[in-house]
Amino acid sequence: MLGPTVRLRTCLLIACLCAAVLAAAAQSAAAQGNGLALTPPMGWNDWYSVYCGVNAQLVEQTAQEMVADGMKAAGYDYVNIDDCWMAPSRDASGNLVPDPTRFPGGIAPVAAYVHSLGMKLGIYEDAGTTTCAGLPGSFGHEAQDAATFASWGIDYVKYDRCNIPYGDFPGESEEQVQQTLYTRMSDGLKATGRPIVFSMCNPDPGDDPWDWGAPISNLWRTTTDIQDNFGSMLVNFEGTVGHYEDAGPGAWNDPDMLQIGNGGSSLLEYTSEFSLWAEMAAPLIASTDIAALTKAELAIYENPNVVAVDQDPLGRPGVPISSANGLWVLTKQLTGGGRAVLLFNSTNTAAAISTTATAAGLPRARAYGMHNLWTNAVTETGGAISAFVPGRGVAMFTVSALPKRHAPKLAPHTVLSLGSGSAELPLGQSATVAESFANDGTSDVKRVALTLSARPGWVVKPLGRTHVPVLAAGGRFTVSYRVTAPASGPPLATSILSGAAAYDPPARRASASATLGEIVAGPVGAPLQTADVTTHPALFGASGRNLAIGARGLGVFNPPYGAAETDSYAAIYEHARARRSSTAEVTVTTDPAGGVSGGAGLIERDAMTAPKRSRAAVALYVNNFAEVVMAWNASGGEDVDNHYALGSLTVRFPVALRLVRRGSTYTGYYSTDRGKVWSPVTTVTVAANASSGKQDVGVFHASGLETWTTTATFRDFRVR
Ligand code: GLA
Repeated sequence: MLGPTVRLRTCLLIACLCAAVLAAAAQSAAAQGNGLALTPPMGWNDWYSVYCGVNAQLVEQTAQEMVADGMKAAGYDYVNIDDCWMAPSRDASGNLVPDPTRFPGGIAPVAAYVHSLGMKLGIYEDAGTTTCAGLPGSFGHEAQDAATFASWGIDYVKYDRCNIPYGDFPGESEEQVQQTLYTRMSDGLKATGRPIVFSMCNPDPGDDPWDWGAPISNLWRTTTDIQDNFGSMLVNFEGTVGHYEDAGPGAWNDPDMLQIGNGGSSLLEYTSEFSLWAEMAAPLIASTDIAALTKAELAIYENPNVVAVDQDPLGRPGVPISSANGLWVLTKQLTGGGRAVLLFNSTNTAAAISTTATAAGLPRARAYGMHNLWTNAVTETGGAISAFVPGRGVAMFTVSALPKRHAPKLAPHTVLSLGSGSAELPLGQSATVAESFANDGTSDVKRVALTLSARPGWVVKPLGRTHVPVLAAGGRFTVSYRVTAPASGPPLATSILSGAAAYDPPARRASASATLGEIVAGPVGAPLQTADVTTHPALFGASGRNLAIGARGLGVFNPPYGAAETDSYAAIYEHARARRSSTAEVTVTTDPAGGVSGGAGLIERDAMTAPKRSRAAVALYVNNFAEVVMAWNASGGEDVDNHYALGSLTVRFPVALRLVRRGSTYTGYYSTDRGKVWSPVTTVTVAANASSGKQDVGVFHASGLETWTTTATFRDFRVR
């Protein structure tokens, strides 16, 4: 027998389906006039898994794999070839030629094979003279290439913007030239009579394709090439979300392809990426090795609830209704009157995020049904839409007004959240943590019992009662705890506090849990001091012989951009301790990978806290490629302007570093066998005005990134 929840879902589904058919019919006069991509395209593209390594076998095997693993059934039906599929020159008649090694039988048989699986084939070209990879572009061959694609059975063309001969269009802006060239290809594709989705890839500043792409294309890139890390994903999300008014059926904002499976982000971060893309009604193009996806990654791609939000036939992208402090609320109008509400925490710390049904655009009602799209829980609320969301995580719901008779059958929506009075706690010290349980439903919750637990070594003491017999609709129950960190431990660590609630909704006993990371730091005491010349507060810790620094910062030497952006790091150091004849040593125990200019190691300079007035900088460190590097101020100018990396040598941690000073000459050494053998790195001479007397000396860390903190650890820092 169907339970009330299942029946409710079924009846919502039927309502949705009827409305969907009507909406699709109403909107068939879509952009580009080709009637295609009435919902955002879904599929695969090879670029981010193999870059220029595409070939027929990979394309056909991926299509097979997508049938076998359920992706095709979930809606992913485009199989798209990116750059590098063609031979370096056209044939005598000016036709494009597939690369004979990559596509020995040409493209047509690949298209036929993909079609035989019930899928569609996409290809890549470029509006310029050559593609981004330097192969023949379509400039001057637009109609001819469109006809070629149609003859091969192509269903989707991604059209790039590298190497456009802007000089051929005097007096025109780059955007105007692009409009001309993208229209040429759009017209060329239409003239073939074959239904071909047209995807514009011209996201450079000033191109603004969302302003002019809809009449000629089905989708346009809004943002630069994505990378598989949270920061890049966030940049592309933030660069796209504001253009919600410009997209709709047949014409979509494209924040670039999905990275889920590429290994650079956590499952939590991938879940956020997928939810954000679906909420924005973005194309869902997986650019990864499909065969290598784990079960958990596949479950993200195939979550039917979230895919349905993306594919909702109304085609309305989600609208941001708040984003204060990096806590985002988006609401997406759905067919049938519901809303998909996305609560996204772009910060690193768990936080409660809330909105209301009316703020999300729903009509006034006594109660609303909430379907959590990732846990599948179905609850009811009197109007609050809230969740306690982990750092970098999301909570995603579809919400709709409930007919009166349904509300009492659903469990009330409850939210358990945690908050700490001090996010950073010295070892052995106490903080107050509040645990709060809210009943957002329209009926009472009974027998509420809260607990808070922590790792061994912690002391957790409730400061009031932890039980309440009845929590009325709309009520909140808060318990404060005194939590005391262990007296000893690593110099810097994030310790998890776990809250749990047990309670009786009308039907059965339920539970909720929440976690909060509490950063615990051992105090850095004399003679050591700390210096932070980054733009974001750094974290410092000391414990016994161990030191740790959590910092952002571009480092002491930033090779790709030259010296001007150097000197952004955090350090633990001793003041005026490096004499003209002295030796500093430390063992770097971990230096997590960050940006290219990041690293961890030793640093000496006149004044650690004042880089620009402190020219005598010398650093000996392990960079984020695990190379040993020496960087120094050779000219006596403001910056560390010279560097030397022990090329071709990557080291494993722990790495011992030794910096020997003789006046203005410094020699660096490293050892990877606990100091048995010391190998020289190099000897450098700093500018004369930069090696006067005693200097500050210490250990430093920079993540190499403006957006993230990474933590490096050290052992046995000493100066003699
Ligand atoms: C550009 C595009 C990418 C990819 C490459 C291929 O960088 O933005 O998506 O197509 O070109 O060279």
